[in-house]
Amino acid sequence: MRKIRVYGEDILRRCATEVKNIDGKTIRLIRGMKQTLKQSHGLGLSAPQVGISERIFIALDDKNRDRIITVINPEILTISKDNEIDMEGCLSFPEIYFSIQRAKKVILKGYNEKGKEIIIEAKGILARCFQHEMDHLDGKLIIDYATDEEKKFWKEKLEKLSKSS
Ligand code: CO
Repeated sequence: MRKIRVYGEDILRRCATEVKNIDGKTIRLIRGMKQTLKQSHGLGLSAPQVGISERIFIALDDKNRDRIITVINPEILTISKDNEIDMEGCLSFPEIYFSIQRAKKVILKGYNEKGKEIIIEAKGILARCFQHEMDHLDGKLIIDYATDEEKKFWKEKLEKLSKSS
């Protein structure tokens, strides 16, 4: 299990770099991320959240919760104009939730851990998860969508978090 970086840590604000080649180090990183995701009961996790500023994320498959989808160097091919608002959490913001508007559907292109190109169409929770994890790779966090009211509501928890980091 890898240590999860929390709100306040600089690495979460960095723009992650593209993965040039998938080597043993990348495979070990992904294995560690999968263990971390399972143990923390999250839906998704990005490499910057475990301290590695590279364009990799993983997500629980919405059709089979035992399966974890790995995406390296992801790119959004299409994003629906249809949006929906829902509460969203993040392992880097434990016990904090913000209501966030996201596209209902996305089609993503990337590579799996074997270096094979993959194209995934996602709806609902998985589409939301993909957009959330893509944000992480650009240093964007759920708090960036929050209203002043929401920030005020979570003020104490947010302060505690950024002090602990
Ligand atoms: Co997150």
